[in-house]
Amino acid sequence: MKFVDDKRSVLLTSSLQGEGKSTCSVNLAYAMSSSGSRVLLIDADLRCPSLHTILGLEGSAGLSTVLIGQAELRDVVQPVGMERLDVLTSGTVPSNPNELLGSSAMEELLEEATMRYDIVIIDAAPMLPVTDAAVLSQFVGGVVVVAESERVRRAEIDRSMGKLEAVGAKVVGVVLNRVRGSASAQDAYGDAYLSAERDSAVPPAADVEPVLSGSAGANGPAQGDLPQRVLVRTPAPGSRDGLEGTMARPRGGAVE
Ligand SMILES: Nc1ncnc2c1ncn2[C@@H]1O[C@H](COP(=O)(O)OP(=O)(O)O)[C@@H](O)[C@H]1O
Ligand SMILES: [Mg+2]
Repeated sequence: MKFVDDKRSVLLTSSLQGEGKSTCSVNLAYAMSSSGSRVLLIDADLRCPSLHTILGLEGSAGLSTVLIGQAELRDVVQPVGMERLDVLTSGTVPSNPNELLGSSAMEELLEEATMRYDIVIIDAAPMLPVTDAAVLSQFVGGVVVVAESERVRRAEIDRSMGKLEAVGAKVVGVVLNRVRGSASAQDAYGDAYLSAERDSAVPPAADVEPVLSGSAGANGPAQGDLPQRVLVRTPAPGSRDGLEGTMARPRGGAVE
């Protein structure tokens, strides 16, 4: 991926809670570390942290602990499984997450992290309920928006994108999560995006909501007018058809 100012950090957000940010962050971190990168995965969803639960890690010392000056980054990162993946869990949930995430301590933490790791992946809060992710986006090289295909409304994605645009965030991709899993639907998605890639044409706008209507049939899904055509299809956790190798290049070459 190519990020703003070559900052090697990417923040995952979504419009709503529960669209799959943490799941996608973990999958992305595993995929990148297993392809050889030294990865730091940070739980910056300080209002609803979950990486410690998902990964079976200690949750009480982590990001918030570093941000209030009670620990150093290197002292509280936790290795998971393989040697190239470290995780910084949330730490104790603070009373002022927005303030902490926008602090110079946060900026410094990310500067240090990007020096020590090849890529820093940040699991952040959703865009619409709170401004935490927008605040944090100013410090990162790129933002990926997770969209749960059959739940989030296009208007909600538009509002999220508007908020990100307002703070000058660089949206490098959209993950279309929980795409209905029938073989024909997956073929239809693959074909649609491959041909769109080939033709460099913006997919036709759909006038149905949510982003994908429930029936992705032989003609492919309604794709809407997402501002980037990066697509990562994410089936159920544990499935072999995971993130790896499924990211497509958007128009304009913003992602490499
Ligand atoms: N692609 C998927 N297939 C099946 N379940 C998923 C998928 N993505 C997320 N989930 C499940 O949805 C729930 C919410 O996901 P999570 O990643 O915690 O969302 P968020 O971090 O955006 O709040 C979790 O129970 C997770 O296991
Ligand atoms: Mg989460």
